[in-house]
Amino acid sequence: MTWKTIASVGQIEEDEPLGVRVEGREIAVFKLGDFLYATDNVCSHQYALLSDGFVDGEYIECPLHQGRFHIPSGKAMGGVVTEAIRTYPCRVEGDQVVIDLPDKDQA
Ligand code: FES
Repeated sequence: MTWKTIASVGQIEEDEPLGVRVEGREIAVFKLGDFLYATDNVCSHQYALLSDGFVDGEYIECPLHQGRFHIPSGKAMGGVVTEAIRTYPCRVEGDQVVIDLPDKDQA
């Protein structure tokens, strides 16, 4: 596991997830209240970026077919999605957001 800086805290607004590309992965960062969460940004159904979707409480709705995921756990919660998205440990260091990426051989 490797902690990587992916954004500064000020870039992430509530209800406006940030999509970033880091080490070949598409990652979405969400702000829910005082907490930040990082998940895969690509939907598990087809290719759509969840950072372009709609936040509804602790859920993100995919912009393409409206599948829903629970942001903190990544669980698929309805619509056409059945497969969870990956979540990543996420924390703030100073004014930077860092996430723990799995090593490449654990991808
Ligand atoms: Fe996300 Fe179909 S691509 S629900």
